[in-house]
Amino acid sequence: MSTCKICNHNLESVINFGEMPISNRYVTDPGISDEYTYVLEVAFCPSCYMVQLVNCVEPTEMFNDEYAFYSSTSSGMEKHFKEQADEIIHFNDDMERPFVVELGCNDGIMLKHIATAGISHLGVEPSANVADIAITNGVNVAKIFFNVESADQIKKEYGAATVICGSNVTCHIEDINSVFEGVSHLLSDDGIFFFEDPYIYDIVSKHSFDQIYDEHIYYFSALSVKNLAERHGLELYDVKFHEVHGGEARYYIRRKSGESNDVTVSVQKCLDKEKSINLHKIEGYKEFKDNVDKVSSDLKQILVDLKAQGHEVVGYGATSKSTTLLKYAGVDNSLIKFISDTTPTKINKFTPGTHIPIKPYEAFINECPEYTLLLAWNHKNEILEKESNYRNNGGKFITFFPEVGVE
Ligand code: TYD
Repeated sequence: MSTCKICNHNLESVINFGEMPISNRYVTDPGISDEYTYVLEVAFCPSCYMVQLVNCVEPTEMFNDEYAFYSSTSSGMEKHFKEQADEIIHFNDDMERPFVVELGCNDGIMLKHIATAGISHLGVEPSANVADIAITNGVNVAKIFFNVESADQIKKEYGAATVICGSNVTCHIEDINSVFEGVSHLLSDDGIFFFEDPYIYDIVSKHSFDQIYDEHIYYFSALSVKNLAERHGLELYDVKFHEVHGGEARYYIRRKSGESNDVTVSVQKCLDKEKSINLHKIEGYKEFKDNVDKVSSDLKQILVDLKAQGHEVVGYGATSKSTTLLKYAGVDNSLIKFISDTTPTKINKFTPGTHIPIKPYEAFINECPEYTLLLAWNHKNEILEKESNYRNNGGKFITFFPEVGVE
């Protein structure tokens, strides 16, 4: 029986996806015989409500000098992080000694704006290749993992932080109690900690199970974050939602004021919304599993049917997410000719586990396929706008959440 990484209570299994490769480890040889795999299983803690992976991959297997994820791959993400930076700058207006710490600053997509504003800051980024890009962008970076020890070092060197933040990183860190302990140690008395990650409410209601992969160890809700914060003398006081990465929640946390267990109106609303779809009970996740299995089999079926009718299908966006989707649905190079992607380090490699070739964007333009599987569905609006000519000329996108369709 597996136990919760936060409170040690017995976990209840939600879905066991079986053997999976590392989602961001694109292979150079499609005939590879020793590809690293682990069992991807997601489970629910009925005590603290945290949804989490049962087996975690070593961080050094995922976040290293070959880490293929770059934040600055879309104009939507640039806009999102500029807005986030503006919010931080505004918050620091009243602070005597502003100091911003970003966990996992990636290529500096957000912190470069803080640097430009002349605010003292530090990006904590263990993946050296993306950290080096952040440094080139004028960002002050420490190439380390964030935990209680590194938080102490940062505090000794720079003083307390008025803002600690992290986007798409908190859910990556297995020892999350250490992160919260570190935050509690490093945060100034009037400071705030906020983080954003894929929101389990969106995942369950959109059936978007491709969000479940090695890097995403935790699938947060206000229900689980409220408990987690309270374990560390902190309180969740606000939650905001946005559409990047397919639906994320941003959790705002501060030092717990007073003894009461009062929750703010916005947090209470969010807790009620989550309870309305049973995210505090295993029952809510059982229905999710049925929906996941239906999307997987419908997706495979439409691709098999299109192939039988002589149509060729390509993929758009070799996302990390696609790894779970393609592998679990059993979609490989026999059904998808190639996937086009704009990330230079992914091009001419093959998708993990399913070994579909990754080609540059020009291959999509030249091929002008009849059908395109929209794997980067989280950028749907941007891509549909960009590819309006393709669609006007009869090209069709296959989408799959909340159900499989063609548009
Ligand atoms: P991303 O949104 O970061 O998702 P994940 O976290 O699951 O990897 O990945 C988007 C991928 O899609 C990235 O490899 C870049 C690619 N992409 C394109 O090829 N063309 C586009 O127009 C966009 C927006 C993304």
